[in-house]
Amino acid sequence: MISTLFHAPEPAKKYIKDVEGGSWSMPIDASTFGDPIDTLYLFIVAIDVLFFALIVATMVYFAWKYRRRTKFQKTSSITHNGKIEFLWSAIPAVLLIVIFLWGEIDYMKMSVPPGDAIDIRIKGQKWFWTVTYPDHPGVILTDEIIVPEGRPVRLTMTSEDVIHSFYIPAFRVKKDAVPGRYTNIWFQATRVGEYNLFCTEYCGDDHSGMIGVAKVLPWDQFEKALEEAGRLAPNTGESMAGFGRRVFERRGCPVCHSVDGTRLVGPSFKGKYGSQEQLADGTSVTVDDNYIRKSLLEPNAQVVSGFTPQMPSFAGQLNDEQITALVEFIKSVK
Ligand code: CUA
Repeated sequence: MISTLFHAPEPAKKYIKDVEGGSWSMPIDASTFGDPIDTLYLFIVAIDVLFFALIVATMVYFAWKYRRRTKFQKTSSITHNGKIEFLWSAIPAVLLIVIFLWGEIDYMKMSVPPGDAIDIRIKGQKWFWTVTYPDHPGVILTDEIIVPEGRPVRLTMTSEDVIHSFYIPAFRVKKDAVPGRYTNIWFQATRVGEYNLFCTEYCGDDHSGMIGVAKVLPWDQFEKALEEAGRLAPNTGESMAGFGRRVFERRGCPVCHSVDGTRLVGPSFKGKYGSQEQLADGTSVTVDDNYIRKSLLEPNAQVVSGFTPQMPSFAGQLNDEQITALVEFIKSVK
């Protein structure tokens, strides 16, 4: 138990360095929300710094000014000062109202997507993001979102299991993906490049590995790149096992299944094909084509002993060719 608590596999995906171009205090700014949010943030920081300096300086000055001068000096009697008390209530109140209204106006702008926004659907699940495009059926991306530069996109998000949170610092967007309901955010990217996509709500073992990439492309390359990225079919001259490896990598499988015998959330594929597997219900099964197929489509029907049933079903997400390729790939992992 302890060993599973402390197992710390290398995340299957790495952060990309998208900090270049950011300042010492801010990540790179790659969307239209960057300016308004950073300005408000810096305004609040400036007020904090100003009042911190003012209060500490006054404190030090008063401590010196009103220090005890002789051993027998008594504290003089203190009454109150109406004017000062009014000011130290009124000034912060006005500042808070300014911060609230400023934040509220920006928040409203961020809440209402423009009518011509491109729709993108996001699904969070342990521990990867699935991204689909209603206008491009068949394109399924894992841990990758492709958006055009200079056009607004609207994300409709949900979760398959627990609460995840979709966060792209460079775009200043962050919103929870909640099971059983849809949540929305929108943004307009302003800078071509690749940016980090994080899950920012603790969602279990591999929360920290739930990392993706947001790619911003010029408008004229967007549609083509989408079709290419979404096309998951064998390349010419590629072996079935080789294609299976690509499916394995592209569909988020390495998050839970290693190929080198390391125990992750699910069983490792190393030497698995053809072996006898002890199941949680006390029976056993031979790992063959049919067992692998069933494990993809109904993952919780025959759970391996010692593992928890938490694999999502890939029914409807993988076609027969991709399933066969995965079988061939697993067969090849000796
Ligand atoms: Cu998903 Cu944290």
